[in-house]
Amino acid sequence: MAEELIIAQSADKAEKYETLIPQIESLVLGESDLVANLSNIAAALKQTMDFFWVGFYLVKDNQLVLGPFQGPIACTRINLGKGVCGASWKEKKTILVPNVDEFPGHIACSSASKSEIVLPAFKNNEVALVLDVDSDQLNDFDQTDAEALEKVMRIVEKLL
Ligand code: SME
Repeated sequence: MAEELIIAQSADKAEKYETLIPQIESLVLGESDLVANLSNIAAALKQTMDFFWVGFYLVKDNQLVLGPFQGPIACTRINLGKGVCGASWKEKKTILVPNVDEFPGHIACSSASKSEIVLPAFKNNEVALVLDVDSDQLNDFDQTDAEALEKVMRIVEKLL
């Protein structure tokens, strides 16, 4: 496909996700390299949803290690159960944090980050990576984000 996303700028959040997700699917179709695909997914999400920070942490040698992302520089390694990412990995579930200051153990890669959502992707029933999305606004993520980003994670799982 042409390397261009078609998203109506006037669309609301749900509509943007709805038009973006099939385009993410075709973007990664036919490319077998995981880093290339995760890079394009991070870019597609950043470009369309205008997230402050969006990226992947991959499970390597029993740690989460920073992978493809878009946004300011970030911490490179996170242990199991640490921060929102480590909690999502440990609990094997999506974690939505309306106010990062109220999440015990939140890892502040950037002081500008105010709310966050982290979702796991699985391979053989184990977490293989997490998607982390940060906002510089409080309470910026809701069920619409969780459901849409979970669909993105199901696409990611097909690449693992
Ligand atoms: N805040 C995350 C760490 C990753 S950065 O936000 C990119 C956490 O608490 O796990």
